[in-house]
Amino acid sequence: MKVTPADRTRKITYAIRDVVVEAQKLEKQGKKIIYLNVGDPLKYDFETPKHMVEAVSRSWKESSSYADSLGLLEARQAVAREAKRLGIPGVTEEDVVMTSGGSEGISMAIGALINKGENILLPKPGYPLYNAVVNYLDGEINEYELEEENEWQPDIEKMKKKINSKTRAIVIISPNNPTGAVYTKETIMKIIALAREHNLVIFSDETYDKLIFDDNFKFHAAGSLAGDVPVVTFNTLSKNYLCPGWRVGWLFFSGPMEKFSEYAEAVKQLARARLSISHPMQFAVKPALEGPQDHLKGLVAKLKARRDITYKRLNEIPGISCAKPRGSFYAFPKIELPIESDKKFVLDLLREEGVLFVFGSGFGQKEGTNHFRVVFAASEEALKEGYNRLERFIKKRF
Ligand SMILES: Cc1ncc(COP(=O)(O)O)c(C=O)c1O
Repeated sequence: MKVTPADRTRKITYAIRDVVVEAQKLEKQGKKIIYLNVGDPLKYDFETPKHMVEAVSRSWKESSSYADSLGLLEARQAVAREAKRLGIPGVTEEDVVMTSGGSEGISMAIGALINKGENILLPKPGYPLYNAVVNYLDGEINEYELEEENEWQPDIEKMKKKINSKTRAIVIISPNNPTGAVYTKETIMKIIALAREHNLVIFSDETYDKLIFDDNFKFHAAGSLAGDVPVVTFNTLSKNYLCPGWRVGWLFFSGPMEKFSEYAEAVKQLARARLSISHPMQFAVKPALEGPQDHLKGLVAKLKARRDITYKRLNEIPGISCAKPRGSFYAFPKIELPIESDKKFVLDLLREEGVLFVFGSGFGQKEGTNHFRVVFAASEEALKEGYNRLERFIKKRF
């Protein structure tokens, strides 16, 4: 008997990992690959801060049991104080749930909100986990486009037209994966006004909030501007604190608790059902958020230099243009060449020149446009070589 998977799994794709299979095949044949595809800083020249490693090492003896389902108290308290530092009022440890990476928080928050056929507004391009979770829950995908020519900000009037009777929430990912865009304060305020008008929750994914490059695109936490609009904020140690393999993230609720409490309780119920996240790793949260932040200076300085190289070199290549990433470590250049598809472009480039990007359709892109995503966390040397090879490939082919 053949075991057939459930229909809901058929719509779930994950381009970020899919392209790696082909790269690994080529590597086995002896080809050297420059990987500019994985959003994991540890794969490049970055290290987890030592004091976090030490905090986890000290915790083993007392943390072989399950942790509290909602998370280690000292970690939740540290997150609540972090919320205060971000200007988000009223958050206590009771409003915080520790999650297995930001990913689990995203899944639980959506899972506790939407019924079959309902939708949440997702940015396009955006991080594909949201689409995967909505599909898994038999919800409807409803996307709002980001405007490439306008620093990848959304057009609020167009966004408004997307809201329908089945819409439950608006997702903000700022800084954004895959574009590197940072929403302006004005953009966030307008999204909050829309949410207020239509009784929607805001899901604010702030995974890259400390990786910001330009004074004119400062980070603003949605919860700090939302007033009476309910916000769920997602964050994680993965990127800002350089330990994605530890799988420690969190979500917290802010805004009017009288509107929010039943929903918050449902999220907590999901957390209880899965018992707990890794116990030892949660001992890194307080030292991360409240210990030395020295690593951030070096991290941001390196990333900013790499962003500058990326922006300059990509815009020098005929047929490629790139909006300036303002945060995170991603760029999303546009391909204006007569190509068959963005996927074929990326795979041909991989096979011919041994450079790996992720194709743009893996993140969603405006109809009729082609893009690819670059991870510029790689060394300057690797980036320069990667862009040289891309240029050679394009000059040869087009
Ligand atoms: C925008 C965004 N949100 C959430 C995540 C999930 O991160 P993690 O589960 O490692 O915390 C990622 C990871 O790349 C991301 O880019």
